[in-house]
Formats: sequence, C-alpha cells, structure tokens
Amino acid sequence: MKVNGTHYRSLWWDEDKDALQIIDQRWLPHEFRVQQVNTLQDFADAIVEMRVRGAPLIGATAAYGMALAAGSDPSDENLDKAWEYLDKTRPTAINLRWALNRCRAKLKALPEGDRAAAALQLAHEISDEDVDINYRIGQNGLEIIRRIAAGKPDGEPVRILTHCNAGWIATVDWGTATSPMYQAHDENIAIHVWVDETRPRNQGALTSWELGSHGIAHTYITDNAGGHLMQHGQVDLVITGTDRTTRRGDVCNKIGTYLKALAAKANDVPFYVALPSPTIDWTVEDGVAEIPIEERLEREVTHVQGLTEDGRIGQVQVTPHGTPGGNPAFDVTPNHLVTGLITERGVCEASADGLAGLFPDLAKVA
Ligand code: MRU
Repeated sequence: MKVNGTHYRSLWWDEDKDALQIIDQRWLPHEFRVQQVNTLQDFADAIVEMRVRGAPLIGATAAYGMALAAGSDPSDENLDKAWEYLDKTRPTAINLRWALNRCRAKLKALPEGDRAAAALQLAHEISDEDVDINYRIGQNGLEIIRRIAAGKPDGEPVRILTHCNAGWIATVDWGTATSPMYQAHDENIAIHVWVDETRPRNQGALTSWELGSHGIAHTYITDNAGGHLMQHGQVDLVITGTDRTTRRGDVCNKIGTYLKALAAKANDVPFYVALPSPTIDWTVEDGVAEIPIEERLEREVTHVQGLTEDGRIGQVQVTPHGTPGGNPAFDVTPNHLVTGLITERGVCEASADGLAGLFPDLAKVA
C-alpha cells in the first residue's frame, strides 16, 4: 500500500544492501521509520518487541530469519538452533511456526551447499504468497460488503467494525480484515469503519493510519463502545483478523475480539473473520483449551504511549505507582459465534466441515 505516494510492502529485501528492511511499527502512526535487520538477534527482537507484528508478517519475517541462519551456517544443527530461537519469540500466532517448519523442512532436504540461496528464495516466495492470499481474501470479503451495500439506500455507507490491526502492515501487503475494505473503497462502495482502539498496544491507531492514508472514512472508538453501537443499529458487520484458527473454526485473535463476537451475536450483527490458510492450526481442535495465550509486559497496561504536544513520542503512567497489571494479549472466540471465515478460497462456515470443504488438501495432510 502507499505511504506518502510511495508503494511499500511491510518488509522487503534490499538487493544492494543484501539485507531485510522492515517498518519499525513501534513508532507508527507518528513516525515512519525503516530498519535493517542484520542478525538473528535483530530478528528475534523485532518480533518480541513488535517492531513487526500481525500473524502473517511475523511468519514472513521468521522465514527471512531462517534465510539469514542458512546463509551463515547451513548445517542441520544450525537450522535447528535458529528454528528454536525464533519459535520462542511469540507463542500464539501459528504463522510463525508454520513458516519456520516450512523453511526447515525444505532446507534440510537439500544439500548444504544449496541451502542459502534456496532459503532466501523461499522467504521471497512466502512473502509473495501472502500478498496473493490477502488479495483473494479481499475479493471474497468484497462479495459480502457488496451484498450489504445493495440493500442500502444510495450513498449510505456499509458500517464495518474491526478490532486490532489486521491491515497491510500486519501482513506483507493488503492485510486480511482490511483487504475487503480497500477493495470495496476502490470500487466506490461507500464504507465507514469503526476502529477499536485495542488497548493496551492501541493497534487501532495503526488501522486508523492505514485507512486514513487510503482515504477510507473511519472513526476511532474505545474498546468498550462496540456493544453500544451494535445495540443501536450502527454496525452492519464485523470483520477481524486471526492469529490462529483451529480445525473446527475456533478463532484466536487480539484480546477483546471475543467480547465483540458476543455483542455481535446478541445483536444479530454478522461477525466474519478474515483467515489466510497459513493461520489454520490443523493440529488443534478446541481453541480455548489448547491455544497458548501470550502474556505480555505489565508496563503495556500501566502505561500508554503517544505523541506529546511538543512533538515527542513518549509514555505516561496511567495507574498508581506499583499497581499490578495483567496483560493477556489474545483470546479465543468459539466457532458458534462466528458467522463465517473469509479465506483465500472462499467464505465458509466456522466448522470442521466448512474448513475441510475448502481445504481438503491441507486438512488431509494434518
Ligand atoms: O499482537 P499483534 O499486534 O501481533 O496482534 C495482531 C492481531 O491480533 C491480528 O488481528 C492478527 O495477527 C491478524 S493480522 C492479519
């Protein structure tokens, strides 16, 4: 997507510098900073500190991390070491392990001398595939928005609520939940997006930055406002992303998603999840019982970060000194609360049959 007129992906390989470039998202939406990633520790830090974030982007970044490892020492032992080091950076988004497994399996099947070049090629492929998948999710989600728009008086926007940032900077490009929004807007369908702030990290500010740059009408709301808006008939549909979806369609996503799904169910608002296939964990059935939920730093809850009036980015404490903070970063929405899963192959019911129907090849292998 474009930033100040220039097209960017959220990460890219710089041939001249022979190194990966990322957008350091800790400074967005206030500053657009690019960072070069040079060492395996840089890769791990970038994921842990959420310079890169969002399940698909974490996966693509990890693939470049494996390429770096293969470039310095392509032995089986070193690939295993890099796999383990990167795998423990964030526990919930399954795209991380999906990318690490895919890279390690492919590389170990090759002679050591071929591994470095193949690893870089594979990281490029994973990135390109992500862009293609998200474009297709957009096409399939667009059908849903078109249907709702067709039932509205001319010019009245389709009102979509989203949570967190499942936008282009959370993927390599397009985003998952935002892809149908971008494509609807580009087709001149009037939309308006309610953007949940998504405490504690305020990923909603990233979504607002993205939508604003693309000219999409939106309003930034507190996390607690969604239920009220739905109750008053001001939300036509919800679209969120996901960090891991189980084979029966339970959806793990940013903390607070579950509450939005409950409110949507109670108010008959359709609740869709944009789901790229690498985010399906075919080994897990019951999301609540089986998905590890990342617990992040207390400081993310007790402090907020923002732009001061004199133009500095800083943090302020919002709690009394010493107040303990609890910070589960994700929650699980059981499948019965999900209206449908918008995947690259079409929209399906959030159920084992729905997912296996669209992905018989992947469901069988698992
Ligand atoms: O903690 P984050 O910011 O990495 O969490 C991101 C989300 O929860 C997104 O909704 C999810 O990864 C999908 S991104 C296309």
